[in-house]
Amino acid sequence: MRKQLQGIPAFLPAKPASEANGQGRLPDVRLAANENTLGFSPLAAAAIQAAVSRLYLYPDSQASSLRSKLAAKLRVDPGQLVFGNGSFELLSLAAYTFLAPGEEALLPSPSFGWYRVATLAAGGIPVTVPLRNHAVDLDEIARRISPTTGLVWLCNPNNPTGSYFTDSELRLFLDRVPPHVFVVLDEAYREFAEQEDFPDTAALVERCPNAAVLRTFSKAYGLAGLRIGYAIAAADTAAALNRLRLPPNLGILAEAGAAASLEDEAFLQSVLDNNRIEKQRYYETFQLLGLSYLPSETNFVMVDLGRDSGPVFEWLLQEGILVRPGRDFDMPTWLRITIGRPEENRAVLAKLEKALQPSAP
Ligand SMILES: Cc1ncc(COP(=O)(O)O)c(C=O)c1O
Repeated sequence: MRKQLQGIPAFLPAKPASEANGQGRLPDVRLAANENTLGFSPLAAAAIQAAVSRLYLYPDSQASSLRSKLAAKLRVDPGQLVFGNGSFELLSLAAYTFLAPGEEALLPSPSFGWYRVATLAAGGIPVTVPLRNHAVDLDEIARRISPTTGLVWLCNPNNPTGSYFTDSELRLFLDRVPPHVFVVLDEAYREFAEQEDFPDTAALVERCPNAAVLRTFSKAYGLAGLRIGYAIAAADTAAALNRLRLPPNLGILAEAGAAASLEDEAFLQSVLDNNRIEKQRYYETFQLLGLSYLPSETNFVMVDLGRDSGPVFEWLLQEGILVRPGRDFDMPTWLRITIGRPEENRAVLAKLEKALQPSAP
């Protein structure tokens, strides 16, 4: 292993379900990785099945059919899009393309863990900027930009806290970012955001050569297993990202499934409706239980148990429910719970209530 890579921490994924309880028994309810337990569009399933007969061919390296559909939907030029094997791949690609070895990358903390890994893999130096009131502190990040800064990671809405920053806050921030600094706007949960002042980044990046927005089909579209995400950027910026992209990095099934899922507005709407209603169920139950929680613009909620959440996490796991312990994010009294189907959410909340009884674990 290259000497420079030896300090890279192992990335902590949500415990894979098969290993979660160490006995080969899968938890019945898996709400740890912000997957969409409503599944995915039947149109995507049909398109994937139809595409199977073409698997002996190499994929279209430009993903032309998906590209033109998505560009029309987003009202951007097709040349402004870059596709990746999930947004994980695009995060790394952005670091390799825009962060020079020895430069600093500013990252909010806690936020998505891959920003640190991508920074280190590119030879950069991660510099963390703590959240303020559980939200990305744009003001402090802008203040910390120096001549040695190469890149800024922003997660909006933020994983794991669910907070968001507004269109005007983002514009003010970008005005303070000098041209030598590249800004990655990770919007993996964007579709779930309900607030009207959420940034319109597809329009924004066209005029901003030193920024890219990353989105994914893994969350609202429910296609995490297919591995497909995309970047939106000014055309020259997208072309720069494309230089290092592995050709072809996207399988035939991924392109077919993603393109078909874009056609199914009704499915997407049902996902967003479920999320809105079920989020409310969590909020109301947390209030009844006297627990603090963070308002979320995503498909997960963060709740504060007011004591080490580790034992409750372990007990829930024994009871067949996998959520995410806050210790993974340096928030040891919290749990992060993905919003799932109504019956899953009811099950988590019933168990949580039991876990908080004085006689419980
Ligand atoms: C903020 C954030 N960015 C990126 C990703 C990676 O998503 P993908 O499945 O598109 O690689 C995740 C996955 O959980 C995420 O939470």
